[in-house]
Amino acid sequence: MEPLVTIPPPGPRARAVLDRDARIISQSMVRDYPLVIDHAEGMNIWDIDGNRYLDFSAGIAVMNVGWNHPAVVRAVSDQVKQLSHGAFLDFCSEIPVQFAETVVSMLPDGLDRVYFSNSGAETIEAALKLARYHTKRKYFISFYGGFHGRTFGAVSLTAAKVIQRKHFGPFLPVIHAPYPNPYRPLGLSTLTCHLDVVQYIREVIFQTEVSPEEVAAIVVEPIQGEGGYIVPPPDFLRMLRELCDEHGILLIVDEVQSGCYRTGRFLATEHAGIVPDIVTLSKAIGGGMPLGVTVASDAIMTWPPGSHASTFGGNNVSCAAGIAVLGVMQEAGFGDHVTAMGAYLKESLAALSEKHELIGDVRGVGLMIGIELVRDRATLEPAKQERNAILNEAFQNGLTLLPAGESVIRFCPPLIIRKEDIDCGIRILDQAFRRVTA
Ligand SMILES: Cc1ncc(COP(=O)(O)O)c(C=O)c1O
Repeated sequence: MEPLVTIPPPGPRARAVLDRDARIISQSMVRDYPLVIDHAEGMNIWDIDGNRYLDFSAGIAVMNVGWNHPAVVRAVSDQVKQLSHGAFLDFCSEIPVQFAETVVSMLPDGLDRVYFSNSGAETIEAALKLARYHTKRKYFISFYGGFHGRTFGAVSLTAAKVIQRKHFGPFLPVIHAPYPNPYRPLGLSTLTCHLDVVQYIREVIFQTEVSPEEVAAIVVEPIQGEGGYIVPPPDFLRMLRELCDEHGILLIVDEVQSGCYRTGRFLATEHAGIVPDIVTLSKAIGGGMPLGVTVASDAIMTWPPGSHASTFGGNNVSCAAGIAVLGVMQEAGFGDHVTAMGAYLKESLAALSEKHELIGDVRGVGLMIGIELVRDRATLEPAKQERNAILNEAFQNGLTLLPAGESVIRFCPPLIIRKEDIDCGIRILDQAFRRVTA
């Protein structure tokens, strides 16, 4: 077996950029690694010292069709020469309309009107305002561990890490419920933890905190992303759908991270066989260009001219990139490839968990996979420091991975990944586990 590469520490040019970054850029963002990216292509990124990395992060589930996909590069460069800004807000142009038609054609019936913005958080702001506008109700319900973005509405829903909320309140009226986590269930059973959650909303939230007729929407991730790649039991979304229907509450499904074939289907919600009232998409849909899409039915998206808009939302260049991205995703077998590679990666991680006691859980759908590290498989004590050390070891051998939750390693590679890439990533990870636990 070939020896693994070892990435040297950042060279003088990289160190200088990191120093300048630290001096001038807001340090509110987390920098997971001392990495200064120069360029990227397909499954790989290169730093400015010329080191190549195998990328299992896809820029946080953004580069689903691979970095610098030629169709996306072509669409963006052609469009920027013709018309970039100047369409969506005051004037009409064809590219955003064509993109909206393509998005809607890939969604279930009943999701047929589109609002454009520039980011995941903005898709959520639009969804919240639309839900209030439509229902004339004030309250929202979301979930502990949920992440929906950093703007005021979105951060009001978010309850993933306290640092994301500290000193920023007061927030919108949002009540948080536990998210059904089969590895750490609220009640006694991993199989019925979703029933416990729905019962909690009915019997605790609706009886003690807010009457259901004051709730505009329940906002949920079909698989929790930042919270730790938590896959709820399959019936969870269907039960939320029923609860919402019973009380005239809208169901908003945040597919910003789980959408765009990340789970093998265009929407992760499709696995549950329900149709939400409002869906939000961002990240991968722009192929690296800023783009947010909030979709609802004609009957719900009735807000009048002037009620909500954005200067850059749905700009021609992002929409041209979006058309190219969706074109790649519509090629025959795209979703099946994700399902097959996801199954292969999960099997490989399950095999790794037999060698390394630290891996307490392997879970995920398609290529949205997490492994949770614990110090003890009986007490489930989170192994956060060990997780961070393993990520650093893997990085030093040329594999970029991201953390999630308290002690989870997330796998959200470009969806074009091949078996050879998975084998290479697993080899690096295996060595990282061996070094850290030695
Ligand atoms: C599920 C989910 N919703 C919303 C967002 C916010 O997206 P953005 O960072 O583009 O505002 C994120 C970002 O990670 C996300 O994962």
